[in-house]
Amino acid sequence: SFNYFGQSYSQIYVNHNGDLTFDAPWYSYTPQRFPMYGSKDVIAPFWTDLDNRGNGDIYYIQYTSGSILQQVTQDINRYFPALNFQANWVFIATWHEVAYFPTTGTQTTFQAVLTTNGQYSFVLMNYGSIASTSRYAGYDTISSSHHFTIPGSFSSDATGPNSTFSLGSNVNVPGRWAFRVDHGSLVCNFNGRKTVTEDDESSPRIPLQQTFNYFGQFYSQIYVNDNGHLTFDAPWSSYTPQQFPMYGSTDIIALFWTDLDNRGNGNIYYVQHTSGSLLQRVTQDINRYFPGLNFQANWIFIATWHEVAYYPTSGTQTTFQAVLTTNGQYSFVLMNYGSIASTGSNMVLARCT
Ligand SMILES: *[C@@H]1O[C@H](CO)[C@@H](O)[C@H](O)[C@H]1NC(C)=O
Repeated sequence: SFNYFGQSYSQIYVNHNGDLTFDAPWYSYTPQRFPMYGSKDVIAPFWTDLDNRGNGDIYYIQYTSGSILQQVTQDINRYFPALNFQANWVFIATWHEVAYFPTTGTQTTFQAVLTTNGQYSFVLMNYGSIASTSRYAGYDTISSSHHFTIPGSFSSDATGPNSTFSLGSNVNVPGRWAFRVDHGSLVCNFNGRKTVTEDDESSPRIPLQQTFNYFGQFYSQIYVNDNGHLTFDAPWSSYTPQQFPMYGSTDIIALFWTDLDNRGNGNIYYVQHTSGSLLQRVTQDINRYFPGLNFQANWIFIATWHEVAYYPTSGTQTTFQAVLTTNGQYSFVLMNYGSIASTGSNMVLARCT
């Protein structure tokens, strides 16, 4: 099975129009920009209107042993060192000299390689020659709250002899793009409590299951406030971001302090754990970022603003998350940013007091 941002898939479809889907085949020939905010996971190496009736073939194959596995293992270890990766499965889908619709005789070649060792998973994209077209092609690999986009997607740079897909790279190998896809930064756990659907509101007082040492202040309660911040002493409705330091007496953790409004769309969740797999994941992450502390989380608190609109109910969708954790001695705040909608308002991205 292939872990794609926390979803474990045991089947796949190779679709003619340059993408892979997991749940069902998909024939869409009109590329859309990611994130699409749908429930569908798509890996789209070259999403455009392709037609293999005149020329071109689309191949797929998988391996669990052999030299291809060794080659992919070497490549992944070069691009993502220190994971000590050993592929136990490789899936390759190749669009070979396929024409653009309708049977134009053009020849476009590209490939997606999926691989996993059971724990980590990766997608490699390989681009051969991409025929010129006046149509712009989209590229991405996504899920609803995670996505990557190759620069030049949806521009005239995408196709032709100088296609940025074929000449560019994010791993210094022209034509090759590599992405780790087993987890994004977001802890996509929305099983927590939701705050009320009111503008400028806050959660009720949330008693913490473990005292949180915040710069020497020991807090045993917290409030999750609609407008993108957390406070300890009292709920807070402020929607006008201020620069830190504020020289006030209030401690604030402000991930994305701006005027947000969850009445039209979006939910704000919070949850805390003192055991379980999320605790282990956060423990791993903290030890990766702050080595040498031998950290073992005994508590995590997660607050997530999921696809929340800017005020007033603008329909925009902005997602971000705070993860607080401690082992009783050390404490950390992780901020995870998903997609942040554009806004004309003057916005300040503040971190902490
Ligand atoms: C591609 O790049 C080469 C080298 O820079 C240039 O000579 C050529 O005109 C470019 N071709 C197209 C179609 O842009």
